[in-house]
Amino acid sequence: MSRVICLEAVGSTNEYLRQNADLPHGTVVLSDAQTEGRGRLGRSFFSKAGTGVYMSVLLRCGNQPEKAASLTPNLAVAVCRAISTVCGVTPEIKWVNDLMLGGKKICGILCESTVKNGVLDSVVAGIGINVLTKAEDFPDEISAIAGSILSVTGKRVERGRLILELIKEIDLMFEAWYGDERVYLDDYRRLCCVVGKEIRIISPDGEKTAFAEGVSDDFGLVVTDGDGCRRILRSGEISVRI
Ligand code: BTN
Repeated sequence: MSRVICLEAVGSTNEYLRQNADLPHGTVVLSDAQTEGRGRLGRSFFSKAGTGVYMSVLLRCGNQPEKAASLTPNLAVAVCRAISTVCGVTPEIKWVNDLMLGGKKICGILCESTVKNGVLDSVVAGIGINVLTKAEDFPDEISAIAGSILSVTGKRVERGRLILELIKEIDLMFEAWYGDERVYLDDYRRLCCVVGKEIRIISPDGEKTAFAEGVSDDFGLVVTDGDGCRRILRSGEISVRI
């Protein structure tokens, strides 16, 4: 990674990098708090000061736009590895990009891509980890599903150590992904806690029950729905509930 920009507060670290897209590959933006932290599917991401890691990395890609979809699951594995090294506990991945500990969501990942002239120009990879958040800090709407490394494990992890390990793992992951997006596929399958379970698929058309069979070679979720129809879910369109 080339440079690290540390802020006390910002609307969104992802937005900061999108507005400063001429920065070099590997630029990392960290903020102690975000006032408009954003998540997937138009949701917000709770980002209280002094409690989390709110981090975005600018990745210059220069390859086919279709490769972008595999970056999020690869990042999920990289973040699991960093948390595992620093905290001694390994999160599970709830397809496609939520990291879970003790059944609670402790981390979300949001990748935003820019395609120019048919080429994947860059991806802003945003990672939000609840590190020191207390259970009572979370707003009511998410208090049942959200947790932090502290609230789940009782461990008070130093955020700086976690950030260093994240930067290292993201560097390694990007290099591997650039050459072959499937290098982390086996690990992703091993860490994915959705497989073998009954799930609810939540889409703009409503909710449906299905059974999660596995993860396809391109990181889709293979499901069988109530009518016995097998299909592959792609990220971006749906959410799953276990
Ligand atoms: C999700 O859970 O749907 C994804 C959450 C991603 C949150 C991170 S925090 C750092 C970066 N800046 C943002 O505004 N969002 C991402």
